[in-house]
Amino acid sequence: MTKPVDKFKGDPNTTGHQWDGIEEFDNPMPRWWLWTFYATIIWGVIYTIAYPAWPLVNSATAGLMGWSSRADVAAEIAAVEEANGPINAKLEQMELAALTSDPELNRYAVSAGGAVFKTWCAQCHGSGAAGAVGYPNLLDDDWLWGGSVEDIHATVSYGIRNEESDDARYSEMPAFGRDELLEKGEIDAVVNYVMSLSGTPEDATLVTVGAEVFADNCASCHGDTALGDRDQGAPNLADAIWLYGGDYASLKETVTNSRYGVMPNWDSRLTEAEIRAVTAYVHQLGGGE
Ligand code: HEC
Ligand code: HEC
Repeated sequence: MTKPVDKFKGDPNTTGHQWDGIEEFDNPMPRWWLWTFYATIIWGVIYTIAYPAWPLVNSATAGLMGWSSRADVAAEIAAVEEANGPINAKLEQMELAALTSDPELNRYAVSAGGAVFKTWCAQCHGSGAAGAVGYPNLLDDDWLWGGSVEDIHATVSYGIRNEESDDARYSEMPAFGRDELLEKGEIDAVVNYVMSLSGTPEDATLVTVGAEVFADNCASCHGDTALGDRDQGAPNLADAIWLYGGDYASLKETVTNSRYGVMPNWDSRLTEAEIRAVTAYVHQLGGGE
């Protein structure tokens, strides 16, 4: 049997492996390949020393370059904040009432405020600000606490019925049923009266009695004609817009156990510029006064 010859090199070395008479030449790796391979190993070693690489129990080696993606983000945020510094300063110093009359500033505030809203407000008020049961719709002009720039600014800064801000808007509707301020029959009657203000009552015969109960127990907050009172955050009950529902069962629950909507204060979480921006954003949504 003749020894096999590598046609390209004339080298008879084989690896010694044989499969069905097929043998494998033992040729060296191409030089370019080998050096590239060594280069990647060297590069890999340098990289793991220079950059964060090896996992530890709770973190990873930091790397000699001190690079981190968090620091990169922080630097980018700092750069944006610095770029917006002057306009934020202007926003903070501006008279609230003049906020909407400076078109350039207002445009900036509304777009920055939209971002604040998506981050901090959307989880309660909805991403489109249309609200949900217990969380008011901010698109309409039906305001609990007022829809001027000043009113919205105060609501957002201090919040509503929270325990953190001393300036939080505060009021409390009595729990007429739970605290036995009204008899069951009186509650039934006043619920029917409230229903009659914007629609059809369950039992029309109770409306007259209900009107009396209302005048004696409810008008002091909701007003003689039930149009509400913004100083007390008492909703308009005659406009068919309901925070907690206008059907018989929801109204009965409201009058029996009361409601206590809480909104956090934002003056400890957001900058004054951010609060003013989100105020401008909410104000231009449709209901601003
Ligand atoms: C944890 C839930 C929650 C978050 C987050 C929240 N809100 Fe509210 N917000 C409420 C509730 C509840 C009310 C209604 C309180 C009441 O019944 O009087 C309210 C009321 C308001 C009102 C008053 C509406 C009116 O009719 O007078 C405004 C304005 C408002 N929120 C804006 C915001 C903005 C802006 C943000 C974000 C910075 C925000 N809210 C974040 C729960 C929240
Ligand atoms: C001390 C003031 C006060 C009195 C008195 C009062 N309310 Fe209220 N009422 C409020 C406030 C404040 C709210 C809003 C609560 C909230 O937003 O969490 C409210 C909410 C309501 C709502 C919910 C409206 C909605 O949009 O879902 C109804 C209904 C209502 N009141 C009916 C009555 C009736 C009927 C009486 C009398 C039996 C009465 N209230 C007496 C202050 C009062």
